[in-house]
Amino acid sequence: MLALGAGPVSEPLLVVRGLSVEYRERELFGHGRRVPAVEDVSLEICRGETLALVGESGSGKSSLAQAIVRLVDVSAGEIRFAGDDVLAARGESLRRLRRGMQLVFQDSATALNPRMRVGDAVAEGLIIHQLVPPAERAGRVAQLLEEVGLDQSLASRYPRDLSGGQRQRVGIARALAVDPALLICDEPVSALDVSIQAQILALLRGLQQRRGMAGLIIAHDLAVVRQVAQRTMVMYLGRVVESGPTEAILASPRHPYTQALIASAPDPDPSLGEVTPALRSDLSTARPEGGCPFEPRCTHPRRDARCRAERPALREEGGVSSACHYGP
Ligand SMILES: Nc1ncnc2c1ncn2[C@@H]1O[C@H](COP(=O)(O)OP(=O)(O)OP(=O)(O)O)[C@@H](O)[C@H]1O
Ligand code: SF4
Ligand SMILES: [Mg+2]
Repeated sequence: MLALGAGPVSEPLLVVRGLSVEYRERELFGHGRRVPAVEDVSLEICRGETLALVGESGSGKSSLAQAIVRLVDVSAGEIRFAGDDVLAARGESLRRLRRGMQLVFQDSATALNPRMRVGDAVAEGLIIHQLVPPAERAGRVAQLLEEVGLDQSLASRYPRDLSGGQRQRVGIARALAVDPALLICDEPVSALDVSIQAQILALLRGLQQRRGMAGLIIAHDLAVVRQVAQRTMVMYLGRVVESGPTEAILASPRHPYTQALIASAPDPDPSLGEVTPALRSDLSTARPEGGCPFEPRCTHPRRDARCRAERPALREEGGVSSACHYGP
């Protein structure tokens, strides 16, 4: 396992505090509007633990993941990884942090360089970080392909000659090559058939167990993360609306948005029983000024003027935090 910084033993592997990300929308004239994508998000991941990040399209999941690995700029907040200040890292320390946290990108079709053979793509991290002597590289690549369930003969193929599931496995092998302490998977199964989804989830579970890696897994639907994540964080329009142990959230979701997410999942678990009605309207990226961001779609019977005026803070009760004035 990769040796990482000298953080206090009790400190979680990853600590994110008050993180915000905003983009500038290009406009024909002027400087461009600021578009908030992530607002004031805090999270922690301990060594060996997997956290799921769940929410609809546009809720800021990828922006948060990319901010953590410094692929997009952060407008506010703090990120610590293995005791190191991620946002202050430069040069060699940034390279070391990037090795420790590996991101498998959302779109496997575009994440791999189309002109690079699979074997070269998997070997890239080994070369950059000088992890194995050149003579041993091909053997190590074969081992990594085997670890993700791919035949080593695929090393000579190009990404276009692979299925979506195979490309996803190559992305994971590429990340594993540098022996990360944290593997971030952005929607690892959303573009795959249900049977292939199950195989990739089983692969991720096996990797967690064998390597003791920590994980951050991003998904649209809660049923997917049940198998791989001990804790879940639900995001809505860039903010955390509920977080806690995955089983607790699935068994009794507190926030009206989480309830609606579970109700609208393609194949809700029958053991979950009756859940709340559908949302009032489709997702809009319009963020209400002040008040609860979910108010325009909320079906909670107590939804009222307070919801429009006052933003609900995350409140913890029994290990689950939820941002609703009125609770379940
Ligand atoms: N490069 C960018 N420039 C401007 N706005 C962006 C950019 N990338 C993302 N956004 C906006 O930021 C918000 C969050 O996007 P993000 O991709 O992080 O969401 P997501 O939860 O990952 O969605 P999906 O499930 O579709 O992948 C959206 O409103 C999106 O339009
Ligand atoms: S604060 Fe009000 S609008 Fe927001 S989720 Fe709770 S009941 Fe619904
Ligand atoms: Mg995304």
